[in-house]
Amino acid sequence: MEGLNVYPRAPAKDDTGGMGDVLSEAERTRLRELARVAAEHAYAPYSGFRVGAALLLDDGTVVAGCNVENCSYRLTSCAEQGAVARAVAEFGPKIRVRAVAVANLNESASMPCGACRQTLTEFGEDAMVVLYPGEGGAAMETTLGELLPHAFRGEFIG
Ligand code: THU
Repeated sequence: MEGLNVYPRAPAKDDTGGMGDVLSEAERTRLRELARVAAEHAYAPYSGFRVGAALLLDDGTVVAGCNVENCSYRLTSCAEQGAVARAVAEFGPKIRVRAVAVANLNESASMPCGACRQTLTEFGEDAMVVLYPGEGGAAMETTLGELLPHAFRGEFIG
């Protein structure tokens, strides 16, 4: 498994035949793995809940982040938020997120929190694939539109 300072390029297309830009199983598995690797770097001394997130950008680049807590609890940054900030810092304001995987090291269910759903909305469509662990570690999948229906979007402003 590569470290986090590389930006692996995932296969651009589904390799199962003719599904256009649908994510392949290999891409899904890889994204979940990279989220888990990112969780190893989490700074979570207060909750003990170490979370990682891996974003698949529209050009195939993967960018990961982890939660970073603070003794002033409300200043905590979620893994998804950290990954988005890192992606913008590395690749600029035009990034588009095609899929995101979330993982934690507690074998708990965890999907993006409400604030992270809004953060992800800024850089992706309702169709964004969200991969997350369910109860008992089940590999769950949904879309951002399912998690945050009727989202507020920048285009609504003036
Ligand atoms: N956390 C995330 O990193 N992402 C989420 O979407 C849910 C919550 C973190 C924040 C905090 O450090 C810990 O999980 C417990 O809430």
